[in-house]
Amino acid sequence: MEQKLQKFLAHAGIASRRGCELLIAQGRVTVNGVRAHIGQRIDPEKDRVRVDGREVRVPSGPKTYIALNKPPGYLSTVKDPLGRKTVMDLLDGVETRVYPVGRLDFDAMGLMLMTNDGELAFRLTHPAFEVRKRYVVEVDGPPDQKKLEMMLAGVRVGDRIVRVDSARFIPSQGRGRFEPTKIEIELHEGQKHVVKNVCRAVGYEPLKLMRVAIGPLKIGELPPGRWRRLTRREVRALRQAAGLEGEERDAIDDRTRRSKDSGHGTGS
Ligand code: URA
Repeated sequence: MEQKLQKFLAHAGIASRRGCELLIAQGRVTVNGVRAHIGQRIDPEKDRVRVDGREVRVPSGPKTYIALNKPPGYLSTVKDPLGRKTVMDLLDGVETRVYPVGRLDFDAMGLMLMTNDGELAFRLTHPAFEVRKRYVVEVDGPPDQKKLEMMLAGVRVGDRIVRVDSARFIPSQGRGRFEPTKIEIELHEGQKHVVKNVCRAVGYEPLKLMRVAIGPLKIGELPPGRWRRLTRREVRALRQAAGLEGEERDAIDDRTRRSKDSGHGTGS
């Protein structure tokens, strides 16, 4: 059903109705790729609304929160026009329509949050909310502290300077055997290929990339290709990290496990 754009945005938790009008007036909102105007009517079922390039969705049904360990070889999109496998193909048994939050490259692996909580999804992907994502990246050269210092100071990626929030080498476990250099990097920026590009900017070629945490949510022991529901405690922590208080108890999916943080169940 059609509704006013500013009402849709306010309902999605982007800002107050007035704040949303301001965003529209500033030209930061598009509908189906075209700059929006105040008073415009949209159909949330059909139209694609973006703020600062990030898609906005209003949840339908109870809120559902899934952590998936994306294996390489899957797209982190809902659909692929070329028919390649996507993360949606890994959600057997999830009956609510959920969407991937942010993206991971086709060849990357690790933690994907899938939810229909549009307000949380927006905040987790917009750098203004400063929620850090943690990655482990294997690179081709030996550990060189100077390169990490360059990443921390800021490196040029395209026409921007990107500064990582933290960077450290993960000590080798390999009792004498060869192991690639592993770097743990945290950042709250989300541009395409940002971690790989930061590595390249300091002279490392990234060989393997894994996301291990989104804010307080950790991948833990979840095997590649498997999913689990978040605990209530995890949902609360994520929402808090994104500046949202509480967990909207009534709206939350019943099956989001009552939190005792009981380890890492997989599948349905
Ligand atoms: N940075 C990258 O380079 N790739 C990803 O998939 C995510 C962050």
